[in-house]
Amino acid sequence: MKFSYRNATQIFFGQGQIASISSAIPANRKVLVIYGGGSIKKNGVYEQVQAAMDGHEWLEFSGVEANPTKETLDKAVALIKEQGVDFILAVGGGSVIDGAKYVAASTHYDGDGWDILTGAYVPEKATPIGVILTIPATGSESNENSVITRSETQEKMPFASPLVQPQFAVLDPDVMKTLPEKQLINGIVDAWVHVCEQYLTKAQGAMVQDGYSETLLRTLRQLGESFADRDDDHWRANLMWAANQALNGLIASGVEQDWSTHMIGHELTALWHVDHARSLAIVQPSLLRHQVEFKREKLEQMGRNVFGLKGGSDLAERTIDSIEAFYQGLGVATQLTEHGGNKPVAIRQVVDNLVKHKMTALSENRNITPESVEEILLGAIA
Ligand code: NZQ
Ligand code: ZN
Repeated sequence: MKFSYRNATQIFFGQGQIASISSAIPANRKVLVIYGGGSIKKNGVYEQVQAAMDGHEWLEFSGVEANPTKETLDKAVALIKEQGVDFILAVGGGSVIDGAKYVAASTHYDGDGWDILTGAYVPEKATPIGVILTIPATGSESNENSVITRSETQEKMPFASPLVQPQFAVLDPDVMKTLPEKQLINGIVDAWVHVCEQYLTKAQGAMVQDGYSETLLRTLRQLGESFADRDDDHWRANLMWAANQALNGLIASGVEQDWSTHMIGHELTALWHVDHARSLAIVQPSLLRHQVEFKREKLEQMGRNVFGLKGGSDLAERTIDSIEAFYQGLGVATQLTEHGGNKPVAIRQVVDNLVKHKMTALSENRNITPESVEEILLGAIA
């Protein structure tokens, strides 16, 4: 085990914490408040922001879509440059936060911001970001990752930079009260797969990382199974904290990771607008079956410690079945149907996009090639 770990985001957790932003944002900053399609105007979050920002100079940019696009975000970049903004407050879910990260970095670059996604430009400076989280799922509120879509070419690509990690994030579980059931379920599934991508690799004897991952998985499983209690303060708080901890860098420290389910899933979203979490539930069971020999030991450990399964030579396979049943129990499909009807064409489109994005050697073993993706998708696409 060898790593360097720091999570530099200050978390303000709990009811009423939105008021904390008034002191968390330096008074002399000119602030751009970035948000999405308007849910914050219907649930009182916008009014709380207004009250807390009293005394600050601020302006706003709305309309960041789910799966945020470069095309929309470039308008925010122009606004920031024109207005001399020097702090960004992102109020929303992963899409708004990821969008704010792109804007924060692009603002200090004269070229096309998409260069950040292709790697042609590595951010050297970024406008500081604060976050008010409105949907627990991605962990974007306290990590350095961002995923941006270019609608013109139907591409969805990630980038990461420590410069765009938020300085603070407000996690008030009360904001979840207006979340549609579908989004709550997406949050459970996304956080679950985040833990899996950092845990389901090879056994490395990392007892702390494994143990904490299993705690998070058991918590998410329990929240899924007690979904009927979702209108309970504890239920909401537990989901919000679990989703945050699932992708804040801690459980990834010093262990192998495998983000191939995410990389393949992103292509399903880019092509057919499948919700991010739902793209993962489609890809992961088939991918795990394909990679079972490489992940057997950890799958068996997960089977015992997360699902309470009994031993046996097929324990890893039964663990994958249990993961799939968990998604189905939440009403989440584990096969893609919305691809336009022609399965071979759909598979080819995904594989071609992955090749274009140079994702030709995925997984911890770099053994998921375009041919493997084809095999995986045969089991994931209806
Ligand atoms: O736009 P508004 O009107 O706000 O509506 C949003 C949106 O339609 C709505 N919503 C959010 N908070 C709400 C609410 N509705 C009612 N009440 C509230 N309190 O929910 C919809 C979905 O929001 P979105 O931000 O898209 O969801 P999520 O947090 O799941 O983010 C998904 C995006 O994050 C990326 C995904 O690829 C996707 O683009 N990811 C980012 C990661 C990261 N930065 O670390 C990792 C993830 O794996 C993921 O890839
Ligand atoms: Zn995710």
